[in-house]
Amino acid sequence: MDFAALECMSCHRRYSTDRAQYRCLACGELLDVVYDFPVKDPEELKTRWQQRRLSDDPIDVSGVWRYRELIPFYRDTSNIVTYPEGNTPLVDAPRSAAYAGLRRLQVKHQGFNPTGSFKDNGMTTGVTQARVLGRNAVACASTGNTSAAMAAYASRAGMLGIVLVPDGQIAFAKLSQSLEYGALTLQIGGDFDVAMRLVEEITADVGIYLLNSLNPFRLEGQKTIMVEMLRQRGWVVPDRVVVPGGNLGNSSAFGKALKELFDLGLIDRLPKITIVQARGADPLYQTITSSTPDHLVTVHAKTLATAIKVGEPVSWKKAKRAMEWTNGWVAEVGEQEIADAKAIIGQDGIGCEPASATALAGIKQLVENGTDEEVERDEDVVAILTGHVLKDPDYTVRYHLGELFAEYVTETSVISKSEPLNSTFGNKPVHVEGTRDAILKVIYEEAARRGITIA
Ligand code: F0G
Repeated sequence: MDFAALECMSCHRRYSTDRAQYRCLACGELLDVVYDFPVKDPEELKTRWQQRRLSDDPIDVSGVWRYRELIPFYRDTSNIVTYPEGNTPLVDAPRSAAYAGLRRLQVKHQGFNPTGSFKDNGMTTGVTQARVLGRNAVACASTGNTSAAMAAYASRAGMLGIVLVPDGQIAFAKLSQSLEYGALTLQIGGDFDVAMRLVEEITADVGIYLLNSLNPFRLEGQKTIMVEMLRQRGWVVPDRVVVPGGNLGNSSAFGKALKELFDLGLIDRLPKITIVQARGADPLYQTITSSTPDHLVTVHAKTLATAIKVGEPVSWKKAKRAMEWTNGWVAEVGEQEIADAKAIIGQDGIGCEPASATALAGIKQLVENGTDEEVERDEDVVAILTGHVLKDPDYTVRYHLGELFAEYVTETSVISKSEPLNSTFGNKPVHVEGTRDAILKVIYEEAARRGITIA
């Protein structure tokens, strides 16, 4: 093998990384990037990564390329396109822990990336490979975050970014990012799954590089989320990593990362990867719990967590493999559970977009009444928050005003609403007369309600 190769995840046929290729030519399955890793001494490597945090070299500053020994496909560092990305916080979330019934919960917040989601971790490597291949145009289908990230990285690299988004079904803030970062933004009639099929067709025989997560170079960057998390924990492996599932690229990347870290001797055990889907967009859950778990059960996806509104996830086999490698599981949670979990993460002063909150909702469910899988109260759990709270402010404000509906359809100027959600942890704005007395009265009443003495 050259220093890196593409390998079919099923028949293990190998291909050169010098060509744009996303599937095995023999069996059509997804590809992995495989390496002859240049790792001799795991402890020395950990020290080297730690020392790079003192450096101002952009590829050391990046929370992806700092770990470049684990993603050595780029041939020459001059090809690297970095913002920089990664370096996201790992924080304790005590209210969220109590809500879920855990003693302690840590969240790794990927929303603190340059475009506000974990997609930046994958886009830096995907766009770098586009540059290695000499491509000038890149494309993706998206529920909004992949497109925001790709639009930014394409512009950073001087490439044309082409995004296909389902018309009217992505959060406004995400649409605004794609426009602002200069991508050609195509609003497609149909949902994400339709856009995904179209983008694979469009990019098949032309010089446009496909940057959805079926592109294995995307997943190489997303692997480093696990590496960074472990470094932040002083290489103490958690019992469980909980991650929202949509197109299932992230869970796939985590599985590959953990397996490689284990095989290379950087960790001595594997955390269980637990994937959480929204109930209306739960193809992996349906598949795993069916009598034929080797055949994908597709669904017509429906959820207010639009980021994960995916019915035919491209990377489902890799996600299933990640579950098998790590003895993991997949759960599904309802719209009310997602909305309430999101508000609790907000009460921790952290906040996230709706899709991210499935992680906390899933943990709570598995602590309280896990049947196939149980989470113990004392487990050491890390939840991955995938997107920033400002990604979908419309959802947040509606929740707090008590105006969130599970069924909320806008067609031209007609809005139909049904299935109202409870504003269980709502924090309504207070309308108050603009006088000192009126305002202080409201403040003291609220402080008393919260048991806080204004000293
Ligand atoms: N959370 C957020 C905020 C996302 O944007 C996505 C995926 C996921 C979770 C699920 O991750 O697809 O790797 O399983 N968003 C894609 C997009 C589909 O187009 O932005 P996954």
